[in-house]
Amino acid sequence: MSSIPAFALRRRQFLQAGAACATIGLPGPGWAASDGLAVTLRPGPARVSMVGDAAPATAVWAYNGATPGPALRLPQGTPFRAAVTNGLAETTTVHWHGMRLPNGMDGVPGLTQRPIPPGGRFDYAFTPPDAGTFWYHSHDHSLEQMGRGLAGALVVEEAEPPTVDRDLLWTIQDWRLDPDAQIAPGFNNHMEIAMDGRVGNTVTINGRLPETLHVRAGERIRLRLLNAAIARIMALQFEGHVPVIVALDGQPCAPHTPADGRILLGPAMRADVMLDMQGEPGRRYRVVDAFYDRLAYTLVRIAYDARPPLRAHPLDAPLRLPPNPVPRPDLASAIVHEVRLQGGMMGGGMMMSMGNGGGMMGMGGAAWAINGRSMTGDGSADMPPLFAIERGRSCILDFRNETAWWHPMHLHGHSFQVLDRDGEDVPHDEWGDTVLVRPRERVRVAFVADNPGDWMLHCHVMEHQIGGLMTTLRVG
Ligand code: C2O
Ligand code: CU
Ligand code: CU
Repeated sequence: MSSIPAFALRRRQFLQAGAACATIGLPGPGWAASDGLAVTLRPGPARVSMVGDAAPATAVWAYNGATPGPALRLPQGTPFRAAVTNGLAETTTVHWHGMRLPNGMDGVPGLTQRPIPPGGRFDYAFTPPDAGTFWYHSHDHSLEQMGRGLAGALVVEEAEPPTVDRDLLWTIQDWRLDPDAQIAPGFNNHMEIAMDGRVGNTVTINGRLPETLHVRAGERIRLRLLNAAIARIMALQFEGHVPVIVALDGQPCAPHTPADGRILLGPAMRADVMLDMQGEPGRRYRVVDAFYDRLAYTLVRIAYDARPPLRAHPLDAPLRLPPNPVPRPDLASAIVHEVRLQGGMMGGGMMMSMGNGGGMMGMGGAAWAINGRSMTGDGSADMPPLFAIERGRSCILDFRNETAWWHPMHLHGHSFQVLDRDGEDVPHDEWGDTVLVRPRERVRVAFVADNPGDWMLHCHVMEHQIGGLMTTLRVG
């Protein structure tokens, strides 16, 4: 397999190109789009230029030499195959985050497959039922393997996509780099496990420190945002613009502008937004991430070229995406399960000190627990599921965050409807596979347990997952 150097594109193009510059195992002659997509993915060590050509290349772990890995695109309802050959010195798996796929393809070591040994191969195959913005990442030694770069986007295209001028993808990653642009050691830091995880110091878009997104006034852009960070939560604000959210975690919602203008994305979460570029020709606008108080920073700038607007008025094509075939849960007959999130440093606030006796709860060395039990590391197949659900039954997960920290809670193999937060109905018909639960908040989600197997339910802050904020559900 050959590969185009990942960053051969000129800088001004890279934000537009997504990660499409990485070569994937391309289909042979006679291959039609309706045949789906077959790719080869090789996780292994690589060096990439991440923070600029003047800085040294960064040693990462990457799929096919690039991080994020190749941006995979295929039409909804067509077969997907990925031959994964392990070029790492340790075992790995690939998880297809958000996909409603057969359990054996879910990529959870010990639970759904044997981990792929160094030099070994595993073939994944499934047909995505839903269109939308999804992603893939390692699920073995996941804190470090994801933290070193093993993640990429998987876009499933609608048969009839909405009318836009451009469809862009931002895979956003967060790194803790030392002054030589190398990934700082110290994964598995005790304090970070019990607090907000390994938040880094360098945020990249599509694998590079972003500079500028060049746009033309009047164009409509569909922007697919993917938070592929291992711990950083983001609240994106588009200065001077009104983004309209049309999908969350790949699933269409009622088009709406985000509350207080901030697109809130926990690790693993995606938002598809429609942006009508109504700024002034020649002007620049900032995209700011303002999640952490006092630590707001400019993620990237939007620069309008001098040309007159592409059209006089914004497009009036509809924004709503076609629906996916996700079953709607029956709330009247749904079984309700409480999922209590516990542990972490108590007392609230990011500045809490370790020495005031308010440390971790006693959970056998684990920092976190769900309903009093801690599944740590990458999971343990011998721990019984939190509960079992009869196949086809509607189920409500009643998350109660008893901790002082935020948790993006993720369920494998299903998409759920977000019902309410602290008793208040969630507007806009929101669905997802990951729901961001605020400190002390109660959030209820509902889904039809129609996909048989044992499925992971865990926090997607990777330190929280390995520190015990993980369990499984059994559908069967
Ligand atoms: Cu995105 Cu269990 O993972
Ligand atoms: Cu997942
Ligand atoms: Cu968490």
